[in-house]
Amino acid sequence: MAVDLLLGLQWGDEGKGKIVDVLTSNYNIIARFQGGPNAGHTLEFDGIKHVLRTIPSGIFHKESTNVIGNGVVIDPVVFAKELEGLNQFDIDYKTKLIISRKAHVILPTHRLLDAASEASKGKAKIGSTLKGIGPTYMDKTGRNGIRVGDLELSDWKDKYRALADKHEAMIKFYNVDVQYNLDEMETEFFEAVKVLKSLKFIDSEEYLYQAQKSGKSILAEGAQGSLLDIDFGTYPFVTSSNTTAAGACTGLGVAPNQIGEVYGIFKAYTTRVGSGPFPTELFDEVGEKMAKIGNEFGAVTGRGRRCGWLDLIALKYACQVNGVTKLMMMKGDVLSGFKSLKVCTAYNYKGETITHLPYNIEPENLKPIYTEFKGWKEDLTKMTETSQFPKELNDYIAFLEKELEIPIHVVSVGPDRKQTIFR
Ligand code: GDP
Ligand code: IMO
Ligand code: MG
Repeated sequence: MAVDLLLGLQWGDEGKGKIVDVLTSNYNIIARFQGGPNAGHTLEFDGIKHVLRTIPSGIFHKESTNVIGNGVVIDPVVFAKELEGLNQFDIDYKTKLIISRKAHVILPTHRLLDAASEASKGKAKIGSTLKGIGPTYMDKTGRNGIRVGDLELSDWKDKYRALADKHEAMIKFYNVDVQYNLDEMETEFFEAVKVLKSLKFIDSEEYLYQAQKSGKSILAEGAQGSLLDIDFGTYPFVTSSNTTAAGACTGLGVAPNQIGEVYGIFKAYTTRVGSGPFPTELFDEVGEKMAKIGNEFGAVTGRGRRCGWLDLIALKYACQVNGVTKLMMMKGDVLSGFKSLKVCTAYNYKGETITHLPYNIEPENLKPIYTEFKGWKEDLTKMTETSQFPKELNDYIAFLEKELEIPIHVVSVGPDRKQTIFR
């Protein structure tokens, strides 16, 4: 059976966690393929709201197996807390959750390096979640990293010490004010490594290959969003992994010809947390209204998310680089009550009208050109089928489908599992 992918098409927080949870009943295995605890994937059901960071969003389904793939970076400290948070739910994670030996480990000094790097950048900072993501992937590509499989070796602490010492020298080099007590951080880290080691480590590419061969269905879960991709995102204001479809192949060891559906998730508008260009950003009361109704505050850092209209040019670009086969539109309910809605359908780029995402999208070079739509007043949150949708919402959806040439398979009308309408 083919491996289906689910990934975000904007700057993250599109609602991936919610939809993975909804789709899990159709899959035997859910596998996270990149990112780390910079992610915050929110699930809501039976009056419970839960945020997952490293653990795949299929964990609440008793039948599913959840794999943390080789492309993920794991902070044992955050991970141990995540497991603790699951204890109240009676989840047998010792059998349901398995971890790739090839996944890299985030060390306490990676977090410190993240902080030092950001502090040294001043106003040009990335707006990182400061979870050590960038420095850990740097050590991975620099061939210095510690992998989960290393933790099974007797001499891993020697390797750890050498790397942590090197990191401390690097932190000094930054010459910025980063306060820390490494002894305390290490005590916490080594305790958390014990918790991590109580879980099953596997050769996940082999596991997934055999599972696929024996007819098991697999859903690969992405983190972040396509515009935060290290290659195709708004560099340097991106994360440090490939968040796009290709990242699922390298992050799980799944061959490209084994990929089936590519589910692309987007919000009916756009948000971004952290720094970097955002052509359709709103700085007025309309943007504030979106943030308020949409409760746009980061699940990881609590930072306010910047809000703006849907950017169809950026969305087309994301569909293209990912090969999206089915779209899912999230948070349509948030747009109820807006008199008119805008969608960016072209850019004015240095005086010229263009319809692709260019290399440089800084505001001094690029202004959005909008198509306006009539809004709808109806509350969507109680709706259960598309026949209840107001005409204006149907018009909005039809326009997007026509422009993107991809069907919108799901319209989400609220955070709860049940507030999901299949078309
Ligand atoms: P993820 O990182 O892509 O999993 O998304 P987050 O969990 O960071 O952010 C999405 C937020 O929107 C969460 O608070 C969800 O509970 C919420 N959410 C998801 N879908 C919907 C929806 O259709 N409507 C509303 N109002 N909220 C939603
Ligand atoms: P999920 O999976 C939204 C953003 C950060 C920052 C940039 C780099 O919940 O959608 P990093 O910590 O990776 O060095 O931060 O990327 N960022 C996210 N924004 N959702 C996320 O994950 C994000 N993960 C990272 O805000 O701008
Ligand atoms: Mg999130």
